[in-house]
Amino acid sequence: MQQSKFKLADWTARNKSSVMERMLTALSDPDLISFALGLPASDFFPSEEFARCFSRILLKNKRSLQYQPPLKSLKSHIVNLMKTRGLETSEENIFLTTGAQQGANLLVHLLLDFNGDVILEEKTYTGFQQVLKPFAPRIFVIPSSSKDGFDIDALVKILESGVRPSFFYTVCDGHNPLSLNLSIAKRQKLVELARTFKFPIIEDDPYGFLSYDENQFPPLIAFDSEFVFYVGTFSKILAPGLRTGWMIIPEYLTAQLGSLKEASDINTGTLNQHLINEYFDSENFDLHLAKLKEEYKKRRNSLNDALNQNFINRAQWQNPSNGLFTWLELPPEFDTEKILEHSLKTRKVAFIPGHLFNVSDSRIGSNCLRLNFTNNCPDTIFEGIHKIAKVIEEVV
Ligand SMILES: Cc1ncc(COP(=O)(O)O)c(C=O)c1O
Repeated sequence: MQQSKFKLADWTARNKSSVMERMLTALSDPDLISFALGLPASDFFPSEEFARCFSRILLKNKRSLQYQPPLKSLKSHIVNLMKTRGLETSEENIFLTTGAQQGANLLVHLLLDFNGDVILEEKTYTGFQQVLKPFAPRIFVIPSSSKDGFDIDALVKILESGVRPSFFYTVCDGHNPLSLNLSIAKRQKLVELARTFKFPIIEDDPYGFLSYDENQFPPLIAFDSEFVFYVGTFSKILAPGLRTGWMIIPEYLTAQLGSLKEASDINTGTLNQHLINEYFDSENFDLHLAKLKEEYKKRRNSLNDALNQNFINRAQWQNPSNGLFTWLELPPEFDTEKILEHSLKTRKVAFIPGHLFNVSDSRIGSNCLRLNFTNNCPDTIFEGIHKIAKVIEEVV
């Protein structure tokens, strides 16, 4: 790797390349079957309707190509969208972002001091871990379980020891990577802790709208809109290339976050805001989401069937209620990093080994795999899982 001839900021020395970056090189092979990244299926992007919306917008409104304040009518669509999750909010609390990644990034800048204290689950979305790096925070890690999520008693212990975190970050529905939904009891308890110990919660919710079963719970922000900051996105329910999302925040923070956002990218792409607004105006969204959920549910079930065919009595997993992933747990003696290496070389199948999501340097979860089920059609899912099963037989 080329060395810089000038000094880079100190934090860059602690910056390892992310799982995503490392996987991207391998994933450029067109013959590879990938269960690795959190890609929504491009087959279901509503591109034809988008083309019609774009053409209408561009012909009627030149200002859609101009710097613009956040589009009020889009905020109003988001307010209505959130009602479907059991949340009453208002346009004043909606803050448009350039995707959930930016939302989380702005909140971290708002809340975290350099070397500040943060409590995280052992298994945390790697994109969020990247956001924290420049702040060199003191991180308190609580165990995560693939059965029922983070260990709330461990969180209580840390709080009772006097630690006051700048925030607690979590994904309650379709957790990335563990792919669970947090129980209602834990949601209530977490919000109660936030109120008692006065720390905010960043609720990252890219997968709450992608639900495949009944019995969905309201997002955390429905329990408390003062201590919970909600981060939403159109990436997984429309298309990630739009780079458009939103936060739900107390109104008094809008100015601070607005100034951080302006420093970051001035405004979320105006044309994309207009596109999504027009798409909602034309009343296509509900049908689109219903179709997406139906198709993803089929793919989720195909993965479950493929795992049943190839891994029954050899591994554990739950068929997830939300999101894009299934978490597969092999017996403890298996090393999924070794399996991945062999799999890429001999069968051209990719997935992410479980310990690569760890906040600490531990190898907890090195016998686990995160498998995406949205990016491949059912036949390819069966083929890929069969290949992984073969690789495992060859490696051990
Ligand atoms: C938990 C989580 N948060 C945020 C993101 C990024 O979302 P966006 O494309 O809206 O920035 C992802 C993408 O995979 C994710 O899994």
